[in-house]
Amino acid sequence: MTTIIVVGAQIGDEGKGKVVDVLAEEADIVARFAGGNNAGHTIVVDGKKIVTHIVPSGCVHQGTVNLCGAGMVIDPFVFHDEVKGIQEQGFLKGDGEICIDLDAHIIMPWHIALDVAREEASNNRIGSTRRGVGPCYEDKARRVGIRVKDLLSIQAHLLFPDTALEIFHKVRVSWECVRDQINNLGLEVLDNINGLQLLLEMFEKLNFPNVKFVSGSDLVTQAQKENKNVLLEGAQGAMLDVTHGPYPYVTSSSTLAGGACTGIGIGPTTIDSVWGITKAYVTRVGKGPFDSKIQDPEMEEKVRQLGAEFGATTGRPRMCGWLNLDELKRAVQLNGITDLAVTKLDIVAHIPDLKVWLDGELQDVPHWKKTWKKPEEKMTEDNLGDNLSCLLDLIEDVTGSPVNMISFGPDRKDIIVYRKAFDRNVL
Ligand code: IMP
Repeated sequence: MTTIIVVGAQIGDEGKGKVVDVLAEEADIVARFAGGNNAGHTIVVDGKKIVTHIVPSGCVHQGTVNLCGAGMVIDPFVFHDEVKGIQEQGFLKGDGEICIDLDAHIIMPWHIALDVAREEASNNRIGSTRRGVGPCYEDKARRVGIRVKDLLSIQAHLLFPDTALEIFHKVRVSWECVRDQINNLGLEVLDNINGLQLLLEMFEKLNFPNVKFVSGSDLVTQAQKENKNVLLEGAQGAMLDVTHGPYPYVTSSSTLAGGACTGIGIGPTTIDSVWGITKAYVTRVGKGPFDSKIQDPEMEEKVRQLGAEFGATTGRPRMCGWLNLDELKRAVQLNGITDLAVTKLDIVAHIPDLKVWLDGELQDVPHWKKTWKKPEEKMTEDNLGDNLSCLLDLIEDVTGSPVNMISFGPDRKDIIVYRKAFDRNVL
């Protein structure tokens, strides 16, 4: 039995979807532990592109259980469309292949309205994805959030009128508070709501024939007892963590490996290794510090175009920067990363004068320029170029963590795994 955590070691968009997809080949369960549809994970299988926002990245493997964990916030309308789309592409059709934790929180329409209203108000912009994720977590912390289990129990509202009343009260409190905040911003007046109809509709959106509503803690614990392989999938990245990121330019959940345990409901002693994913350069969307941003607009555009750096969730062009080794080192520390996976090496392979951010300044990669050769059109394991080893050596030296996987193209085949994640326990 092995339980691994996979997290983003930068500011999100590190290529986690692809890495998780490859690691998930041997996983029995892939469980997402935080965030919502602010994330966007892209997986390419036989040239087919699958973009997920809520559903875990194990969804293209038949028989793998994909759990949306208790730490997540779920928009039922987005969930519905996403599952339907994935099923139309031929995946996620088996019974129980998609499970939702009963304790996950529900993004209500007014959470989205508030997120948008705040972003529109000029003095309060952090560049959120406008999906209602932050306001939903606020309601969770205020203890008025609506959970998956509430949608289920409202089904039985006629049998259990007390439960129904309690839930309606929560909906009212959440709605009224958010409505007042939106109205105070003077941007939009929310109409009254039909609570019952909305909750029933939301339940229907989640209730696919093969979706199971579960305790994720029980599901994963049982799997661990049965010697199964479990992969806990993060969203966003270390530098967006609500506690350890550059507050307030952060998301509203715990994106670090520690958050995997609380987000699923298992203890840290059950974790065997922590994989951190980093690109060979860095991108940022939204506001916040970005020390290593590429200052030459032509070079930034080159990286953006080569790397197709446009948001999977919002379509926003991402700002591009040189690999920030100071932040990567910190991400290794914050997460306890045991294995690094470096993605998008094919992009930096095109840059004869590659830079990294180290010790608070831009620096050359030792020996890169000397060893650089124009990369072959199709990069393979045999033609990677010595310059890439120079970069990987530097990453290992600075962070103290081994690079155990590299990726040099969008397809599943464009990857080399140096240590199999589920072969042995390392902690
Ligand atoms: P929110 O998570 O939508 O509240 O946005 C808060 C911050 O996190 C903004 O700067 C977003 O651009 C950023 N963010 C959220 N999700 C992602 C992601 O998946 N990739 C990159 N940035 C993200």
